[in-house]
Amino acid sequence: MKKIVASNFKATHTRKSTKEFVEDVDSYLKEKEITNDVFIFPASTALDTFKLQENLTIGAQNGYPVKSGSFTGEIGTLHLDEFEINTILIGHSERRHILGESQKDIVIKYNYFKAMGYRIIYCFGEPLEVKNCGITETLGYILEQFDGIDLSYDNLILAYEPVWAIGTGKSATTEDIALIHKKIKKKVNKPLLYGGSVKVCTLQDILEVPNVDGVLVGTASWEVEDFKKMIYIASKMDKDSKKLICSMEG
Ligand code: 13P
Repeated sequence: MKKIVASNFKATHTRKSTKEFVEDVDSYLKEKEITNDVFIFPASTALDTFKLQENLTIGAQNGYPVKSGSFTGEIGTLHLDEFEINTILIGHSERRHILGESQKDIVIKYNYFKAMGYRIIYCFGEPLEVKNCGITETLGYILEQFDGIDLSYDNLILAYEPVWAIGTGKSATTEDIALIHKKIKKKVNKPLLYGGSVKVCTLQDILEVPNVDGVLVGTASWEVEDFKKMIYIASKMDKDSKKLICSMEG
């Protein structure tokens, strides 16, 4: 399977810079004839209808589990449909830990977007205090994040994003990733991404870890040239696994 590369813009990039970024990535995929699946998750104010290569998908970072209604500050499928968005991130740690989404809220959201046929990228991961308790506790914590989630859903991609590695510059080690991914894959046979301080220079090592089907990247993907380098590295991994130098021209 070709490696998946996804960029989560979080609360960065304007509508204007998102358009430039998306168009740049789209031309790059075309020019280099790269067919790996690439996802970009812009802020909701920057969503739009883009005419893109088949393997480049724009997704929503969030959505409220309704078509429309009296939910101040939220957007529903009415708004996502306007731009033909049918991919969404659910369960991201920033929504769980900063915005206070409970597992119950997440299950409601998951079931709604599943019923609408969305491709769901479902995120899970443990905070540092849980990791420090050991692998049994870590797996127990992760399994609780699967409570109520239909893991047999066809249009599901999973993303392991340890909370302590997100936005900290401190990625999980390849050993940490290998262990968790192996355990999760045994339980759920779905594409499984890793996210948490992935950088251009660490990408190849991470993609070489068994059971890593791709990456979900925040900070290090926000410069388009860096994101293109990541896409390039991922595309080469399918062909040969020789070390690509970090500073290569992508
Ligand atoms: P960083 O790459 O900034 O750690 O963010 C990862 C992430 O949260 C992707 O969803």
